[in-house]
Amino acid sequence: MTLYSRITGTGSYLPPRRVTNDDLARELAGRGIETSDQWIIERTGIRARHFAAPEVTSSDLALHACRHALEASGHSARDVDLIIVATSTPDMVFPSSAAILQNKLGIAGCPAFDVQAVCSGFVYAITVADAMIRTGGAKCALVVGAEVFSRILDFNDRTTCVLFGDGAGAVVLEASDTPGILASDLHADGSHVGILCVPGNVSGGQVLGTPLLRMDGQAVFKLAVRVLEDAARATLAKAGKVDADIDWLIPHQANIRIMQGTAKKLKLPLDKLIVTVDEHGNTSAASIPLALDAAVRGGKIKKGDTLMLEGVGGGFTWGAVLLNL
Ligand code: UT7
Repeated sequence: MTLYSRITGTGSYLPPRRVTNDDLARELAGRGIETSDQWIIERTGIRARHFAAPEVTSSDLALHACRHALEASGHSARDVDLIIVATSTPDMVFPSSAAILQNKLGIAGCPAFDVQAVCSGFVYAITVADAMIRTGGAKCALVVGAEVFSRILDFNDRTTCVLFGDGAGAVVLEASDTPGILASDLHADGSHVGILCVPGNVSGGQVLGTPLLRMDGQAVFKLAVRVLEDAARATLAKAGKVDADIDWLIPHQANIRIMQGTAKKLKLPLDKLIVTVDEHGNTSAASIPLALDAAVRGGKIKKGDTLMLEGVGGGFTWGAVLLNL
């Protein structure tokens, strides 16, 4: 019997404060910075995002998402034997948000660690969890993407602060004798560190450099369109599948134009594209599991469907995962 891993429950959580483009435009106007609902929608597809309250951390958001995913899978936290959190906005420098989340879930003992691959974090994390399950290292994993990107936004930079939001998504990934995860394809190219980064670090009790997000949007845009198609094609080839086998495309939710461009390259009709960027903004590692959960709970995605997940972001990192739900 070949051992596979399969998603048996999804969950997500958005902090209650919803900030529309108009809300943000008003806030920025107070700083003498001009933006508009029309510009943000036309260039990105974003209408609103959620921001967490100052005292709320990524592990707090993750906890809600995990509870929903566990409930959907019919498990309790006591069944969990692996926790992986994809985040670039952890609660602390260390320990990991995964260890903090484990404690909030009221369990102890199982391995728990963070994966840092920025907006590709969730496809990295689920690939690692799949490998651990298939090699017998775990049977019931929580794989989470959780971010409070509002903490690292520069609200004096209109080219980035209108793009991102906070939230968390989670899946329960379990050992299975029928295939769930079919194939994945992960990459990084550190020569592009500078096009999307938070260049600060902690040293001697101070933050050195800038602890705020910096992005060359056009450079990221061009790279993203190219690598997302390559990763999807490589993943399909590894699984022995073709474009037409994809029931739903769930790309990282950064920009509707990148997402639609990828769907077109894969010859997928746009109604096969899961879109939540309009309501969530770019929630980095949380965007894919948030979109997955929204589509499952909304009744679009059903058990047995074939999904292509695709991430791209800082590093530069990118990757794709093909799975049967
Ligand atoms: O999560 C990781 C992956 N990240 C991404 O995928 C992001 C990829 N990049 C993008 O999505 C797009 O490049 C952006 C949405 C960031 C920007 O869109 P763009 O079409 O590339 O716009 P642009 O940077 O070429 O800027 C066009 C104009 C500029 O004005 P001028 O120079 O033409 O006069 C900007 O100053 O829009 C101006 N602009 C704005 N205007 C109003 C930039 N930001 C804003 C703003 N409101 N918020």
